[in-house]
Amino acid sequence: MRERFLPFALPDTDEAEVTAVAEVIRSGWLTTGSRTRSFEAAFAERVGAKHAIAVNSCTAAMHLALEALAIKPGDKVLTTPYTFAATAEVIRYLGAHPRFVDIRPDTFDIDPEQVASVLAREPIAAILPVHVAGEPCDMVALHAIAGGIPVVEDAAHALPAKIGERTIGALSTATCFSFYATKTLATGEGGMIATDDDALAERCRVMSLHGISRDAWKRYTAEGSWRYEILAPGFKYNLTDIASAIGLVQLGKLDAMWQRRVAIAARYDAAFADHRALQVPSRRAGNQHAWHLYMLRVHADRVSGGRDAFVEELRRRNIGASVHFIPLHLHPYYRDTYRYSPNDFPVAYREFLREVSLPIYSRMTDGDVDDVIAAVLASADALRA
Ligand SMILES: Cc1ncc(COP(=O)(O)O)c(C=O)c1O
Repeated sequence: MRERFLPFALPDTDEAEVTAVAEVIRSGWLTTGSRTRSFEAAFAERVGAKHAIAVNSCTAAMHLALEALAIKPGDKVLTTPYTFAATAEVIRYLGAHPRFVDIRPDTFDIDPEQVASVLAREPIAAILPVHVAGEPCDMVALHAIAGGIPVVEDAAHALPAKIGERTIGALSTATCFSFYATKTLATGEGGMIATDDDALAERCRVMSLHGISRDAWKRYTAEGSWRYEILAPGFKYNLTDIASAIGLVQLGKLDAMWQRRVAIAARYDAAFADHRALQVPSRRAGNQHAWHLYMLRVHADRVSGGRDAFVEELRRRNIGASVHFIPLHLHPYYRDTYRYSPNDFPVAYREFLREVSLPIYSRMTDGDVDDVIAAVLASADALRA
């Protein structure tokens, strides 16, 4: 059995990030500045978007994108409960309501048929699909169904992901990424809005820094001016140059980090695909999966104690596992506000009860991967039902 605990996630940072941050600190310019502008330009180029606006989280990115689309109190924004807190809370920030629909059982993503049936009956202000784990949603179907309704993608997990040759980040009205510490590109905290829409980009940029005029961040430089105008009551969502310096280094090694995740996923698949108690993640042909998460499922009737016991067995074997996600409609706030019961979204509820996320990150050694595989097989054996 493994002697030291294997964390569920670790960022892949080394001396290159340390040097980049040290340079920023020595430069005397710590907050948003030239590093952030370079990170935005490099990121836009990478995902094939006209604009990229750096912010301090994906939560901020989604809030700004919806605000720029003029989502207002009482509006409904279509999304799923199978996501993290951020996706629905940003809708509530604007006084709008999340209109949840269920997920597809194979890939945990929003079910386009249910989207179509809601759109036929209810006014919907925007659609907010989530690329769970980094497996792209069926954006072709969703765009066809959406008609003129704006689509903002929650791509917190989806860098670098593609549908055919089309990169996530270049497909919808706006796409929001996360650079949180555990993500496929990590700056500690951070996020990005990618869009081709000039007006939306401009609104997000202005609102990301107090709603003050465009180049407000330059006001303490030789080129800047002390004079500024407040155009709207904005937010304090700008990304620092410290984070952007890390982001630029991470972007340079994104493909190598992703390749390692692909290799780990392939090893897990090979080890678990034929196991009677386990179900490996599905993926859709033609998609490039970012592999932010490896979402294994247990067949609850073949594992005594089910998923919870399984996570505990892994922990006993010094393997950090997690669960993605506790569907939002089970949480007290959404449950009580909208009077949900678990089976209002039966697929989300059922799949949540079976899901366990295994460690998958580029710093894992082959030995770490061996240890996870051994622990998963031993746990399934110990709980055999
Ligand atoms: C699906 C999803 N959306 C949004 C977020 C929010 O990202 P951030 O922490 O950058 O705000 C997360 C974070 O884990 C997430 O998993």
